Amino acid sequence: MTGAKERIPTYITGLDEKMQGGIPKGHIVLLAGVSGSMKSSLGFSMLYNAVQEGKTSGIYVTLEQGKDSLGSHMAGMGMDVQDPRVRSRIAIIDLADLRVQLDSKGMTDSVDWMGQLIKQLANYRDSIGFEVVVFDSLGAFFTLTKMENPRDEIFRFFEAIRRMGLTGIIICEMMGEAKSQYGEFGIEDYLSDGVIHLTMERSDDFIQRKVSVVKMRHTDHILGYRPYRWDSSICKFRID
Ligand SMILES: Nc1ncnc2c1ncn2[C@@H]1O[C@H](COP(=O)(O)OP(=O)(O)OP(=O)(O)O)[C@@H](O)[C@H]1O
Ligand SMILES: [Mg+2]
Repeated sequence: MTGAKERIPTYITGLDEKMQGGIPKGHIVLLAGVSGSMKSSLGFSMLYNAVQEGKTSGIYVTLEQGKDSLGSHMAGMGMDVQDPRVRSRIAIIDLADLRVQLDSKGMTDSVDWMGQLIKQLANYRDSIGFEVVVFDSLGAFFTLTKMENPRDEIFRFFEAIRRMGLTGIIICEMMGEAKSQYGEFGIEDYLSDGVIHLTMERSDDFIQRKVSVVKMRHTDHILGYRPYRWDSSICKFRID
């Protein structure tokens, strides 16, 4: 045996081939980038393409965008979100809805948000048996819940994902280019098994998006930033 790991491809054409086929199952990977760098599009398209190929099922937890907005965004990019296979294998949970429910019960102040989130994921896993969770985004979750110790809560969240045996794609916003760390709370990058960084570089009259695999445990991958773009004819990203 080679000890080869089962992987979930990124479905960035040209990149998977240069990272042994993708993300090892069970990893927690940060998808970090500035606003507009297509983090949500990439997170969703990974799940979408994996589901289309019958490789997995997953949950997309959205806080940045409502469920309808997310659906129409992905449909606008050419993904068939009404496809029965997609509808049955990707559950989209809008956590803002959970907040509204708890607000209406007057429970928002005392609620253990992270506990509620973990409980919901465990319930979904037990009832529909999904494997991948895309979480969009960490920053929005902490803004919504006003939690005081994000570092402790992130630790708890990642531990829960590992304990449940899920593969986690965790979206986090990068405020600027100059930071040496990925994420906002200072611990996400070293608690995670991998970091995929999306950038937007400006030249005089042009903006170029680039992608880099900054780290991926158990994986021989290329380093360096490569231009990437969405190819609607195949519903996948590609590096040029
Ligand atoms: N059909 C399309 N084809 C290619 N690119 C598109 C298409 N529709 C939208 N975009 C690009 O995708 C960008 C938004 O992508 P996305 O929402 O995934 O980014 P994000 O990093 O999640 O942003 P945010 O930080 O606001 O959540 C838009 O700014 C636009 O440039
Ligand atoms: Mg987004």
